[in-house]
Amino acid sequence: MDSFITWIGGKKLLRKKITEIFPENIDRYVEVFGGAAWVLFYKEKYAKQEIYNDINGELVNLFKCVKYHPNAIVEELQLILNARQIFNDFQQNKNRTDLTDIQRAAMFYYIIRTSYGAKLEQYSANYRSPYLLLQNVEEIAKRLSRVVIENKNFTDILAQYDKEDTLFYCDPPYYKAEKMYHMGNYVFDKEQHILLRDSLRNIKGHFVLSYNDDEFVRNLYEGFDIQEVERSSNLSFSNGKRGIYKELIITNF
Ligand SMILES: C[S@@+](CC[C@H](N)C(=O)[O-])C[C@H]1O[C@@H](n2cnc3c(N)ncnc32)[C@H](O)[C@@H]1O
Repeated sequence: MDSFITWIGGKKLLRKKITEIFPENIDRYVEVFGGAAWVLFYKEKYAKQEIYNDINGELVNLFKCVKYHPNAIVEELQLILNARQIFNDFQQNKNRTDLTDIQRAAMFYYIIRTSYGAKLEQYSANYRSPYLLLQNVEEIAKRLSRVVIENKNFTDILAQYDKEDTLFYCDPPYYKAEKMYHMGNYVFDKEQHILLRDSLRNIKGHFVLSYNDDEFVRNLYEGFDIQEVERSSNLSFSNGKRGIYKELIITNF
């Protein structure tokens, strides 16, 4: 199954390669940097216990509302026109506190679906209404029904769920692309990349980590298993061919 949203850094194109590396006989599966959870949705089940986590509270509220109130979100969206003015209104009112969780989730979903490149910034005129894009919401809710949804920093999640047969799938903001994620003043800075490496170094369980191919990342994870993978970029060159990006999949097994 596909995720119900597009998200910057989403692993739609790499999910097959990533999951081929996953070890068998895992008891607990944790997506530490959940985002749109493309890897989670790719399969029906990875383990008896599954956890989705993201530090972005609006995103987590959206996941929770889709899990617990799928039809209420769709009803909310059904009445909203697909229009630039509404997008701008929602953008300006993002921090309103007089909305219900379901209204906030619908508004956030609308912003994701109608923004250019899902960057949440500019309206992208699109004939498809956000409402129509969420028609399989019950199927999505069913997939999430067994998944615990958390809204914590990665350090807390790694500490809380670590045990020998846990698999942590980690897809942090890519090095030098951290500012793409909107979270007020919070930025995943260089210290956070180092802290992630130090935390992963000490876990009892398994990890699979996605990163952009950069010297800094390669040095940081020296000694771990590092595989190079390629994916085509969304951008085409003038000759019509698509560009190729190199990414890394790093594991501790
Ligand atoms: C590359 S995206 C994950 C994409 C996801 N794998 C997918 O397929 O859609 C990185 C995510 O990490 C989250 N994030 C950033 N800093 C974090 C932190 N300190 N702890 C947990 N999540 C964090 C961001 O909100 C963002 O959604």
